[in-house]
Parts: sequence; C-alpha cells; structure tokens
Amino acid sequence: MDEQRIAVVGGGVVGLAVAWQAAVEGMPVTVVDPEPVSGGASWVAAGMLAPVTEAWPGEEHVLALGAESLRRWPAFAADLATPPDLRTEGTIALALDAADAADQARLADFLASLGREVRGLSGREVRELEPGVGAVRGGLLVPGDLSVDSHLLLRSLRESAELAGVEFVTQRAVSVEDGGVTLADGSTVECREAVIAAGAWSAELHPALAGLVHPVKGEILTLRARPGTLPPPTRTLRARVESRPVYLVPHSDGRLHVGATQSEVGHDTDVTAGGVRDLLDDAERVLPGIREYTLAEATAHVRAGSRDNLPLLGRLTPGVLAATAHHRNGVLLAPLTAATIVAILRGRSLDDHVVAASPDRFGDAR
Ligand code: GLY
Repeated sequence: MDEQRIAVVGGGVVGLAVAWQAAVEGMPVTVVDPEPVSGGASWVAAGMLAPVTEAWPGEEHVLALGAESLRRWPAFAADLATPPDLRTEGTIALALDAADAADQARLADFLASLGREVRGLSGREVRELEPGVGAVRGGLLVPGDLSVDSHLLLRSLRESAELAGVEFVTQRAVSVEDGGVTLADGSTVECREAVIAAGAWSAELHPALAGLVHPVKGEILTLRARPGTLPPPTRTLRARVESRPVYLVPHSDGRLHVGATQSEVGHDTDVTAGGVRDLLDDAERVLPGIREYTLAEATAHVRAGSRDNLPLLGRLTPGVLAATAHHRNGVLLAPLTAATIVAILRGRSLDDHVVAASPDRFGDAR
C-alpha cells in the first residue's frame, strides 16, 4: 500500500478542487477519471455561485454551507493558475406575476431573518438595471450571488492541480475500498485515503453510499447574442415560468447559459425536444430578445442528488471519504468541500455547518 497517497475518484469541479488543495498541502495525489475536466456534470454547469437565490425555507443548512463557501470563493479564484471569470455583478430573481411577487415577499422575509442582503425592485427598477428584461412585476436584487465560467474554472483547476504535482489516471474506477481504488482494467491505485467525488456515479463505487446519491438530470442551453440583437444581461437573471424555474447566466466571452431542467430519470444524458422548448419559452419570457440569439449548444448531464439536498462530506469507512451529492451546488461548494476534505485528511476538527453534511447523518435510516 502507498502509505501517503490520496486517491481522488472524480475529475470534475469537486474532485479537482480536493486534489489541488490536498497537493498544495504537500500530499501526493492521484485523480482517477476516464475523462477529467469535461466528462461530467461540472462541464455543463452554468456556474452560478448562488446560495441566496437557490435558498428555500427548511433548507437552512444548505444556505449556511453555500454562504460559507461563497465567502471563500474570491480567495479560491485568486489562487487558481488562471482566472475563472468570477463575475460580481450579482443576481436578480424576477417576479413575473402577482403570485411570484407574493412568493418573493415571503422569500425576502425569510432571507432578511437570516441576515442575507436582498433588495426589492419594482418592474421599472428591474428594467433600469437590465433593459432587455420583458414585462415583470418586480424582482429581488441579490448583489452577493455571483457566477463563474465552468469551462475556464475546470481547465484552470486541472492546470493548478498539475502545477501542485497531482497525477492523473484516465481510467474508470469500479470500486473503492480501504487501501485502494480498483480500476476497470483490474489494476489498483493504492492509497492511504480514497476520496469519492464521482458525482451521480458515486453510489456505485462504495456500498455505504447505496441509496444516498441519485442522478438528477439537467438540460442546459448555450446562447450567443448576434450583431444587431440586444446584448445579454449584465447580471444573472432567475424566474419561475409556469412554475418551472429558469435562469440566464451571462459570461464575459459572450455566452449566455439558460438552464436548467430537473428530472429524476436515471443516468439519462439525452437532450429532449421538450426540454429545449421549455427552456427557450421560459427564457424568452424573461428576455424577449433571445429569440434572435444563436442557439450554440444544448447539453444534458446528471447532478448528484441527495435525500435532503445537503452534500455528503466526510468519512464513510476507514480509508474512504465522501465528497459528493452536491446536487445543484457543486461549483458553489467546491472551495468549502476541498477545505473540509483536507481538514479531515490532516486530522483537524470541522466547523458545525460542515458536520451537518456528514454522511453518517442518516444513521440506520439508510
Ligand atoms: N445550479 C443550478 C442547477 O443545477 O441547475
């Protein structure tokens, strides 16, 4: 057995962040993934860092984790080998009708009670800030909810990890046990600790994760403004249309992500005609000018869902840690997840809000 090595199964945003930070602390690290960077759900993520506009009453632990990770994002981004286009213009959650406005008022009260910064806007104020927005009743301005470009981020994480000495094994892992990771060709990556960061595939790698992680499909579109069309918004825009949530996330290279559908249909990564139609219809209600945009790409992948929308962060069994089930928040939670796993590897104690995400929280109910 390799007495020092840390094996990280999964080369998406979570696995790469964990590997990078562990290597920065001087640990020898191997990432196992048949297609690191671009093979998983992180690659198709819109890149929202949005704990507040993703928040919902009853999910206070999710908000607390997200807010703590967001606090760490600027320093995390600054340490990367190349910048990930961290955009700080903020987010507006739009209310299209009276029912939305009532929901938003409740959400604003909930967030204010937790001390989160939000500001109510009239429809006119929304259009002063974002002239391309269609007819809306109003909105909530959340200046702290930010975004990054997931492609720049993933490439930069890999580069940063390699600069810190991380090695890559581009094979599929089939199981993880104390002392090593078994690969598809029957060989083993020996290690002191293995970290399962394989997103929606995590449950297949270790029996302690069975039933705790499940795939949640998301379809997402990439649009681009064309000459003569209205420019994309400056801020991330979110809304509910026909009770479906939609978000529009602008990036500095001109791409506009429109996402995302959410359905529990197993490991299905096909883009459906209905999914694309709903996203385009809903996005057009928010920003009518996108009708003239180029539809550059339509993609689908599976998020790693958990039972309570909190991730699974911590020890599973001797020699095996989990860093998975980040659901809609993998990009947001990457800095905090990496810091948490490194703290466990170093034997340091954890903060209370991270303990809430411990995999043993389900106990025998598992
Ligand atoms: N973070 C938004 C989503 O997963 O669709």
